[in-house]
Amino acid sequence: MDGFLASHVVHWQAQAGRHDLPWQNTRDPYRVWLSEIMLQQTQVVTVQAYFSRFVARFADVQALAQAPLDEVLHLWAGLGYYSRARNLHRCAQDVVALHGGVFPRSAQQLQTLPGIGRSTAAAIAALCFGERVAILDGNVKRVLTRYLGFADDLALASNELRLWDLATELLPKDHLLRNMVRYTQGMMDLGATLCSSKNPACPVCPLVERCVAQALGSPEKFPLKTRKLKRSAQSIWLLWAMTDDGAVWLSQRPTPGVWAGLYCLPLFEDRQTLQAVVDQQGVHSLRDLPSFKHVLTHKDLYLHPVLLRLAGHQALPLDGQWFGAAQIAKIGLPAPIKKMLQVGKACGSDHSRSDVL
Ligand code: ADE
Repeated sequence: MDGFLASHVVHWQAQAGRHDLPWQNTRDPYRVWLSEIMLQQTQVVTVQAYFSRFVARFADVQALAQAPLDEVLHLWAGLGYYSRARNLHRCAQDVVALHGGVFPRSAQQLQTLPGIGRSTAAAIAALCFGERVAILDGNVKRVLTRYLGFADDLALASNELRLWDLATELLPKDHLLRNMVRYTQGMMDLGATLCSSKNPACPVCPLVERCVAQALGSPEKFPLKTRKLKRSAQSIWLLWAMTDDGAVWLSQRPTPGVWAGLYCLPLFEDRQTLQAVVDQQGVHSLRDLPSFKHVLTHKDLYLHPVLLRLAGHQALPLDGQWFGAAQIAKIGLPAPIKKMLQVGKACGSDHSRSDVL
């Protein structure tokens, strides 16, 4: 290991990498941690607005730790993977309770906190404190396996551990406070820009002359993956109970499960069960609204909303309660449900038009 990779990535990052993202140019672990958690499964363009709203509302880890979880989930709504938001809140509370409100400075200690895995801990320690530790998220795995020609299956834990070891050997060896930031950010930037899954921009890559996968003529074959994501489909009926004054019946989703912790319309696996619940309430007219598809990572959800109009705030024989418009604006709802309720409101909850959804 002669330092080619480290020096070229550091140089390239300084010249051509990203420098003006809202969580850069700081060594504040609160901001770096928050951005890394948001970026785990979400793209930079989406994260930017959420990140800015979050730090405007919660300026530091104390403010986040003191906030009600519902408010955190509300600000998170739309980013998906809500376990991240629950862990974020728990992590903030642990930093305050166990570490006096100060993030630990080593990757090893950071990894003991909720929601912080090995790569995220390394990103925080490298970007904030210049620790010589390797990150290995999906983008970085692509860059490294291609550069090294690492053709072993990463679904095997032993192979992944070997790649971690190689990633560690390849890190910069001097001027760590400056170089670890540039290198860590540079590997992420390379993976997110030039070294893309399909059609990588090899001719302009700073690593092209030593990249084994490029020399083999097959960069797109790396990394080798055998685990295929099994997708499934599920139909769900949503009871959209609404009163004349615009209140909606919502309940908090159980943990674990889809949309855990968020507030949602009552969900049913079939139309008959929904109908039976409504029938217990007496005679009501239900209106089936247009169905729509919502794509989750492992699953396509086919959502079938059914509208129930009620005059007053009578209790329904279901978990939950009535929420007025002002309350709904303050709680976390799954993105497709929020959108549906907003469209419904904009149309005066009339739904005489068939294209409302
Ligand atoms: N993906 C994960 N962490 C990132 C970061 N700090 N900047 C850009 N993309 C990222």
